[in-house]
Amino acid sequence: MSYVLEMKEISKSFPGVKALQNVNFSVLPGEVHCLIGANGAGKSTLMKILSGVYEKDEGTILLNGNEVKITSPSDSKENGIATIYQELSLVEELSLAENIFLGNYLNPKAGLIKWNQLKNEATELFSLLGLSLSPNLLVKEVSMGLKQMTEIAKAISTKCQIIVMDEPSTALSGDEINKLFDVIRLLKKQGYTIIYISHKLDELYTIGDRVTVLRNGKWVITEELNNVSEPQLVEYITGRKIEKQTKQHIYHQKEEFLKVHNLTNKHLKNVSFTVGKGETVGLYGLVGSGRTELLRAIYGADKLIDGEIFLNGVKKKIASPKVAVNEGMGLVPENRKTEGIIANLSIEENAFLPSLNNYSKSRFLQQTKIREKMKESIKKLNIKTPSPKTEIRNLSGGNQQKVIISKWLIHQSKLLLFDEPTQGIDVGAKDEVYKIMRDLANQGTSIVVASSEIDELLAICDRVLVMFEGKIIKEYLSPANQKSEILNSAVSGT
Ligand SMILES: Nc1ncnc2c1ncn2[C@@H]1O[C@H](COP(=O)(O)OP(=O)(O)OP(=O)(O)O)[C@@H](O)[C@H]1O
Ligand SMILES: [Mg+2]
Repeated sequence: MSYVLEMKEISKSFPGVKALQNVNFSVLPGEVHCLIGANGAGKSTLMKILSGVYEKDEGTILLNGNEVKITSPSDSKENGIATIYQELSLVEELSLAENIFLGNYLNPKAGLIKWNQLKNEATELFSLLGLSLSPNLLVKEVSMGLKQMTEIAKAISTKCQIIVMDEPSTALSGDEINKLFDVIRLLKKQGYTIIYISHKLDELYTIGDRVTVLRNGKWVITEELNNVSEPQLVEYITGRKIEKQTKQHIYHQKEEFLKVHNLTNKHLKNVSFTVGKGETVGLYGLVGSGRTELLRAIYGADKLIDGEIFLNGVKKKIASPKVAVNEGMGLVPENRKTEGIIANLSIEENAFLPSLNNYSKSRFLQQTKIREKMKESIKKLNIKTPSPKTEIRNLSGGNQQKVIISKWLIHQSKLLLFDEPTQGIDVGAKDEVYKIMRDLANQGTSIVVASSEIDELLAICDRVLVMFEGKIIKEYLSPANQKSEILNSAVSGT
């Protein structure tokens, strides 16, 4: 069969990084082709070359057998390629319809935009995706799932044949992911070809036809998913075998560090619990159960109506994240792009932001000390970067997440709050992050971690609390052996 897309011998370097070396990537018409690999393997770069964001150094691109030159995003669009980037590109303050047609307004004759036509077209696009959704809603009013759907509507509004989705499921909940899969199946039926990037290997088997693995900027294998097992994929991705670990229950209740009593606000109802020094407590629950909101309330990011927070037995008023950080807390937030990083600062600046006071002497920064500490962190977390001075936005998604974690390691936080800590992190690095969390706990750091991945909590937590509608409804003291009970109680609310 002839390929719809062939990328041949593609190479691309950035200062200090060979991001792609002679990569071959061929896609069949109408297939869902999964593109996988560790953080920094080159997935997004390959797709950005296809979408005209980056220019390749070497190689050729063929569409339907003909060589094409793609040197700008508009070249790519004209060739029928639509890309949904890892970091969504919607404008929060505009409506869904406006976003879909942004830069592409229908018939803008004499500067006039036909708003009604635009809205009708948007409604039609949504219905093609099986959604009945008002195009007047503002982006900031809708869930991550609907934002992703709006990006897809935007893609198919451009009359494309190939749709690239770069980690579309990372920030979605279980239900939203299922909806996304329904839409992908629908698109496939309508004849679209999909390139699908994800770190969640189980998803590939649900939705994918074939898979290509990249490692360190090089092509490793292209294979039908039916012919390759998950452990084999892990080996292709990491270049080594990884055994799944679960937490051995070794925690013995020690001194209490955090105590929250009757926390109440818009999203929380009388939440009380404690965390010991060196203890790791997991928060599990469905989307909207209040996991994120509880972390934000403790961190002073959301206001409390009622309730008290004690650290080391002393009552504290945590009025803002700044106060929280001064009290020795750190938060790894759910939304990396808007809350976790400052995009145009360097890795080093991002990592040292909360700790500058500890690294200055009579108002001078101790540059050498900073440099050494940063080097150590880059090594410890295996952060893939040419230099500590690189702007953080130039790192791959998973490596940005590691920098955020390093920030709180450097700060020597006593209480760490993790919200979806391994979001966008590859299978190999996940275990590294778990190990770092375990090491921190062993050194006495108290940890609260919210996750929608139950296996993640089972691997790292001493105790799991289940939340439902803003309340803690159950506590599990031996989570590794209580998976089905935890799942049940999160769903049933009992
Ligand atoms: N604009 C840029 N400037 C400098 N280096 C870059 C730039 N874009 C990507 N890189 C580097 O190229 C390499 C490949 O990055 P890429 O974003 O393609 O990885 P990825 O496979 O998408 O990873 P992830 O799973 O973490 O998203 C990384 O080492 C990254 O730091
Ligand atoms: Mg990427």
